[in-house]
Amino acid sequence: MDVISVIRTKRDKGELSPEQIDWVIDAYTRGEVADEQMSALAMAILLNGMNRVEIARWTAAMINSGERMNFAQLSRPTADKHSTGGVGDKITLPLAPIVAACGAAVPQLSGRGLGHTGGTLDKLESIPGWRALLSNEEMLDVLDSTGAVICAAGDGLAPADKKLYALRDVTGTVEAIPLIASSIMSKKIAEGTGSLVLDVKVGSGAFMKNIEDARELAATMVGLGTDHGVRTVALLTDMSTPLGLTAGNALEVRESVEVLAGGGPQDVVDLTLALAREMLDAAGLKDADPAKALADGSAMDVWRRMIAAQGGDPDAALPVAREQHVVHASESGVLTTMDAYAVGVAAWRLGAGRARKEDQVQAGAGIELHAKPGDRVTAGQRLMTLHTDTPEKFEYALEALNGRVFTSPEGTDFTPNPIVLGR
Ligand code: URA
Repeated sequence: MDVISVIRTKRDKGELSPEQIDWVIDAYTRGEVADEQMSALAMAILLNGMNRVEIARWTAAMINSGERMNFAQLSRPTADKHSTGGVGDKITLPLAPIVAACGAAVPQLSGRGLGHTGGTLDKLESIPGWRALLSNEEMLDVLDSTGAVICAAGDGLAPADKKLYALRDVTGTVEAIPLIASSIMSKKIAEGTGSLVLDVKVGSGAFMKNIEDARELAATMVGLGTDHGVRTVALLTDMSTPLGLTAGNALEVRESVEVLAGGGPQDVVDLTLALAREMLDAAGLKDADPAKALADGSAMDVWRRMIAAQGGDPDAALPVAREQHVVHASESGVLTTMDAYAVGVAAWRLGAGRARKEDQVQAGAGIELHAKPGDRVTAGQRLMTLHTDTPEKFEYALEALNGRVFTSPEGTDFTPNPIVLGR
């Protein structure tokens, strides 16, 4: 088999055969197919798609590129959640401890920032001492002792996805339904969770910009999960504006801790509880009450134990960026648009995300919002604060926001989107 013929098949809108798929995933994982060849194939897939048979085979090949985990020895049912990626999407941070406090085991294998979207591991790494990289034994120990673990997928789990995910991030090939579905589901199926709730984001800050594409992605993933014996449910949720009031690593950890302490922005609380209910239902814990776990402090206890078990200090001060720049409202009225994509790109340009796969992220960089769509604003009031260690980036970040935040005259009838758009 040669890689050029595989690329040409997809470039010319053909169907990849099972043999071609198995070979190219295996050869790429072993380093026989080069990054530039795989990026050409990823671009051909993005442009020309894959059918259901190809997606199922591609996912199976990614699963088979590594090992499979097994949580059968745990006394609790396993429940996991995965988001397709958004701006300000810190939900995993409060969600995993809440669901664990309700009696499930939550093995949350998470990723790093991809494109303009933030990554759970980048966020948690802003906590001094916290480690994302755990051996399989360490992961099971943390899961067993605290009920939840949030960590990087080990090197042995879907290694083909690990390489391809980093490559797609820097080659403009993220937004392909077959590649997103196979990337997420290969990790989740290999991880061995019994149930899975997918948070499929829709809107400017999501990879799926409209509800039809999001529905197709959701159906593709639910189909893959169900075929592999994982109880899988998907919620379609709004990503037209950032979730909560922060986008950036340490900023989002701070906001997540506020949620666990019983405060935090309402949209973050509402979505966290909606996903928690789905996870508990899917895990067979229908009587558990996630709102109670939040209110009585038991979720906070799990958070503190989970962070400490992974080397972090839950009481340590979080890093703060060296420089801030405040953006003020230029007119009074009702804020109708705070575009999620623009805020994501601006946060990324400030240093919260990476431009090349080997780049380091800045822990303190990002954006703090002081108003959200639906809020009344007065000319001159603070709209957002930009944070960075590299102030020469302010102008570049402001360019991304230019024309993407709108205020309409006082009295305009405006209702923000609900957070959950469908199931
Ligand atoms: N999350 C993933 O794990 N993979 C993608 O491709 C997109 C979001």
